[in-house]
Amino acid sequence: MNIKVLKDYEELSQTASSYIEHQVKKNPQSVLGLATGGTPLGTYKQVVQSYQSQGIDYSGVSSLNLDEYVGLDKNDPQSYHYFMKEHLFDHINIQDEHTFIPNGKTESLFEECKRYEGIIDEIGPPDLQILGIGENGHIGFNEPDTSFESMTHIVDLEVSTRQANARFFNSFDDVPKQAITMGIGSILKSKQIILLASGERKAEAIKRLLQGPVDEQFPASALHHHNQVTLLVDQASYQLIEKE
Ligand code: GLP
Repeated sequence: MNIKVLKDYEELSQTASSYIEHQVKKNPQSVLGLATGGTPLGTYKQVVQSYQSQGIDYSGVSSLNLDEYVGLDKNDPQSYHYFMKEHLFDHINIQDEHTFIPNGKTESLFEECKRYEGIIDEIGPPDLQILGIGENGHIGFNEPDTSFESMTHIVDLEVSTRQANARFFNSFDDVPKQAITMGIGSILKSKQIILLASGERKAEAIKRLLQGPVDEQFPASALHHHNQVTLLVDQASYQLIEKE
């Protein structure tokens, strides 16, 4: 695992966006694996800025998002569909029909999981997958104890995950109890992965990722099974490593 320690969130976001831009310039038909959450917001802001200033062309790019809440319509402001449009897709020239996100509001979630994994295999795997990390080590919405071989599936969210994401909702009770997520096995299909972590809140998770065992109790540790992973961290999230 390559590790890059950046000064702060700003530098982290700039570095992450430069990975995306480099990939798209190298291959205008790239498939990007995208994440939601607070961490990649700065990255997407940078991508939009460089799109505006440099005219990077996303018209041939496809995207595959990691996850979506169960039960939220794609027009719901709390859905990840909405998040992606608001923070990225509406501001660059990516084609709507080239963007893929699991549908969390469908009659058969089981069928949706199969359908989405099929899309990953058909248009993917991502050339570059962006990941965040939960405080409990989750990637996508793969909670502790998820098989490293898992494909797209439905998860029951941990209370701690719902609490961490409650800041995006009116109240904790509004946070859905389930999500549909690419599995860890699906994520590991990606050709290259960059994992972003920022802030003191992630310091324990980064310590465990880098110095703890590889096991299913800590989903992000599966990344040690992939040979093209770069960890982009800021000093705050790396602080427990530096102290040792
Ligand atoms: C959510 C998302 C993850 C994300 C995690 C961390 O649970 N499903 O993909 O990595 O939150 O979010 P944040 O970046 O807001 O800390």
